[in-house]
Amino acid sequence: MAKPRSQFSCQSCGYASPKWLGRCPECGGWNTLVEEAVSIPGRSTALAGALTGEAPVSLADVPTDDAPRVKTGIGELDRVLGGGLVPGSLVLLGGDPGIGKSTLLLQALQGIAAPQHGKPRTVLYVSGEESVRQTALRAQRLGARAPSLLVLAETRLERILDEATRLAPVVLAVDSIQTVHSPGLESVPGSLGQVREAAGRLLSFAKERGVATVLVGHVTKEGGLAGPKTLEHVVDAVVHFEGEPGHPCRILRAAKNRFGSTNEVGVFEMHAEGLREVQNPSALFLAERPVGVPGSAVIASVEGSRPLLVEVQALVAAAAGMPRRAALGVDPNRVSLLLAVIERRAGIGMLGQDVFVNVAGGIRLSEPAADLGIVAAAASSATRRPIEGRTICFGEVGLAGEVRAVAQPELRLAEAAKLGFRRCVLPELNRARLIGTFDLELVGVRDVEAALAALLVAPVRR
Ligand SMILES: Nc1ncnc2c1ncn2[C@@H]1O[C@H](COP(=O)(O)OP(=O)(O)O)[C@@H](O)[C@H]1O
Ligand SMILES: [Mg+2]
Repeated sequence: MAKPRSQFSCQSCGYASPKWLGRCPECGGWNTLVEEAVSIPGRSTALAGALTGEAPVSLADVPTDDAPRVKTGIGELDRVLGGGLVPGSLVLLGGDPGIGKSTLLLQALQGIAAPQHGKPRTVLYVSGEESVRQTALRAQRLGARAPSLLVLAETRLERILDEATRLAPVVLAVDSIQTVHSPGLESVPGSLGQVREAAGRLLSFAKERGVATVLVGHVTKEGGLAGPKTLEHVVDAVVHFEGEPGHPCRILRAAKNRFGSTNEVGVFEMHAEGLREVQNPSALFLAERPVGVPGSAVIASVEGSRPLLVEVQALVAAAAGMPRRAALGVDPNRVSLLLAVIERRAGIGMLGQDVFVNVAGGIRLSEPAADLGIVAAAASSATRRPIEGRTICFGEVGLAGEVRAVAQPELRLAEAAKLGFRRCVLPELNRARLIGTFDLELVGVRDVEAALAALLVAPVRR
């Protein structure tokens, strides 16, 4: 068979060259040439047909019953995916090396291959990083021993597609996309051209055969290796597996999902026998909270449809030179803004201080309801006045120091009451419009000053 030809094309201007060049002679861009396969018969037309159908149809005539999802049986994972894997979809599972992607994938494939109710299903796990024996050892440790869970140690794209076509599995998993290469291209495995070619061909396979396909991608920081960033536009869903090294807590988060919400998070704990779902993440996040210590505030946050209680910590100390600011788990710009609000609206000096803010447990907060927690933690640390241990808060803070209402207050209050909190400081508008009753003392506030008066207790002696 003749080797498929490849060419190098500039990603900015489209200039094509038969060999690699460091600089594009057309537009002058550096490192913009990427190897691409040319003229794979039928590829683009087959893909377009699979995606769009033959002729335009009336939307009213299209059947809209929910696509049957392939459930993994791991509740936290299924929820993040929007209810399970969609047949024919391409999902990218990203994360740092060693975080537990292969572990999660094997456990999920086991759940699909041997569902609790229903018939066994064929799934194919392609490992480009580990031998069949290594994978078997891991599978044994995880209890992933379903007879219909098949393993293939292979890195050649054509072989992977041949086997997947022959076996017609319900789910195909490729671990990792960076190891897959096509001999048709000269560039090394993991290069941008190879990764894009492999992802493109696997996408066509998934759409044409209706096979849910999962690609694992390492998040690489070196510019030389193609990170999965380049694939995010191609795939239907991107889920990230995150966590702090040395901490058992892992968080699964959808960054993109054509078949579900991107707000959902899944929480897991890593154990020797694999990943365990965390049913009550609030309890986990609050387990090591220092009660009665200045600088610690508990907020009631909502991620997707699920309430999460998390501890926000702040340390405010006199700066020895240029004040330093660092924020982990919250947007540093948001923190700077809130510190300015504290300074101006509550009269607590922040500008000449080092300020460090951290969200305990390795979770990231992105909703404005966390504002009041950041303000409370920073003000508590600066004034050395702790927040009473069974008091919780939430609310968005505006530039004028006003505390603004947020969505879903009922969900937050119910979770706080469930975990034994007694009192909640919340936006007055939320309090006034609450639906239902809660076993909590509710303190509605309109501005930061009132909120801090309600939250901070008398100073502790040093
Ligand atoms: N034999 C083992 N016993 C217990 N834990 C292990 C063992 N081997 C690996 N692990 C755990 O699994 C993690 C690696 O997970 P893995 O799924 O291979 O990550 P990734 O695929 O994201 O690189 C390690 O960080 C380690 O905590
Ligand atoms: Mg792995």
